[in-house]
Amino acid sequence: MPTTIKLDFQRDAIAVARKAADTIAGAVRANPAVVLGLATGSTPEGTYAELIRIHKEEGLSFVAVTTFNLDEYLGLSGDHSQSYRQFMQTRLFNHIDTRPWNTHCLNGLAADPELEAEAFETKIRSCGGVDLWLLGVGSNGHIAFNEPGSPPDCRTRVISLTSETIAANSDGRFYSDPKDVPRQALTAGIATIYDARSILLLATGAHKAAPIAAAVEGSPSPECPASFLQGHADCTFILDADAAGDLSAN
Ligand code: GLP
Repeated sequence: MPTTIKLDFQRDAIAVARKAADTIAGAVRANPAVVLGLATGSTPEGTYAELIRIHKEEGLSFVAVTTFNLDEYLGLSGDHSQSYRQFMQTRLFNHIDTRPWNTHCLNGLAADPELEAEAFETKIRSCGGVDLWLLGVGSNGHIAFNEPGSPPDCRTRVISLTSETIAANSDGRFYSDPKDVPRQALTAGIATIYDARSILLLATGAHKAAPIAAAVEGSPSPECPASFLQGHADCTFILDADAAGDLSAN
């Protein structure tokens, strides 16, 4: 099956962030009540900074926007400094006019994580589905916390993190010691993400070139969960020159 993934080559991480923020801002302008899916990690930080600038300088309002976040560490409260809820609060929500009741993050302290996962899927459906889901990619090809081995039809659930993901998230940017990184997370599934009407995956840096090449050129396989985005009706990868690697030469 030929891939339908559209590739958008940008010079560097700053240009990737601008392009992603412009696309999201355009979606909000076109539909002020748009439903956005959001990601954490280093990659979207520039995009969020640019959205804050657009909000403050150009008056873009997020007051009617609904958001869903991809994932959350199991065992962390939303107040924990390393929770993805806190990431979203400090990088975006505290600086724009989203309404707290419209921003949905999985609860890492849910008494029954499976029920929490089901409720998350139900909430997305009750909001009419996600219009645009912003994604990053792990160096092992994971999207959200769908680690290698995740099937294409998986939905929101508890997952155990691989040692590679634990190492990547304890390199000093977030955690400094692998021992401190939670071993499990709640994550939206690949099918949950695939259901979005439109998908924007961002990748920057040479360490993302291999998973991006596998996602775009490899056969769709659980070994590289991002490869399951092939075939989506509206999926764009925005890549800087390092993450694009040889793809930009084709
Ligand atoms: C984490 C997140 C993913 C993110 C990935 C890449 O594990 N769960 O949603 O895409 O890491 O993160 P980064 O952008 O920091 O490279």
